[in-house]
Amino acid sequence: MVKRKHPRPFVVATFAMTADGKVTTRNFVPVDFTSREDKLHLFRQRALADAVLLGHTSLKRDNVRLGIPADLQQARIKQKKSPAPLRVIVSNKGRIDSRLKIFQSAISPILIFSTTRMPKKTRTALEGKATLHLTDCDEIDLAAMLKTLRRKYKVRALACEGGPTLFRSLLERGLVDQLNLTIAPYMFGGVKAPTLTGLSKEFLPASVHCSLVDMRTVGDECFLTYRIKHQRRRN
Ligand SMILES: NC(=O)c1ccc[n+]([C@@H]2O[C@H](COP(=O)([O-])OP(=O)(O)OC[C@H]3O[C@@H](n4cnc5c(N)ncnc54)[C@H](OP(=O)(O)O)[C@@H]3O)[C@@H](O)[C@H]2O)c1
Repeated sequence: MVKRKHPRPFVVATFAMTADGKVTTRNFVPVDFTSREDKLHLFRQRALADAVLLGHTSLKRDNVRLGIPADLQQARIKQKKSPAPLRVIVSNKGRIDSRLKIFQSAISPILIFSTTRMPKKTRTALEGKATLHLTDCDEIDLAAMLKTLRRKYKVRALACEGGPTLFRSLLERGLVDQLNLTIAPYMFGGVKAPTLTGLSKEFLPASVHCSLVDMRTVGDECFLTYRIKHQRRRN
């Protein structure tokens, strides 16, 4: 079998969901339903990666910086890595507010994958704050984005932190390799509150089969690690 010169990064998605499968409430307001242990778990997963990926809606809603705590930065430096993973944002429309907190933190470079639909005003406002990768197509080609991350930025491990819309898009294209899932001891109910794969009524193009490789419980939470079984070889 011919080995590809520039394979894509290994993609690890990390999510927390309620016992009834919800990742947020119907208003998409930032909702804190997990423990300190889960937050540390998210940071540790982030710190393991060369880059962290987030969809524009989650970035807007949660206004996160996507950094890591000082001790994890030190551990990375000891391993001769950069203090924190690259931060990658995806947005098709490109209407990204340059005043978001992420742009006030210089912990690591920020890459934005978007389209030429991004308004000129936004491009100017983001100058010096992020590197823009704009495609002429209407939508980002996620597989091509992953290849760019691997080839140009040497990203071998990518931590995807959602949200569900982006996760589903990656999953549909066979671009997720591992899912870290925290089950939190709550139930929200409601058809308008997204599950792990978002709000779409459609089935996935094919069922995604996972294999459980680790499980641990801390207090009332359960931390699961699944490997995604790919139909075909990773591209
Ligand atoms: N519980 C958890 O673990 C967890 C984790 C993450 C997020 N969340 C929650 O999830 C909610 C937001 O999730 P969401 O599903 O609405 O949004 P999302 O997945 O965070 O972002 C979706 C946006 O990403 C951009 N995008 C670009 N290319 C895309 C592609 N190929 N496929 C999909 N999206 C693409 C688009 O931005 P443009 O609209 O700019 O074009 C799209 O609207 C928030 O409330 C957040 O708190 C929960």
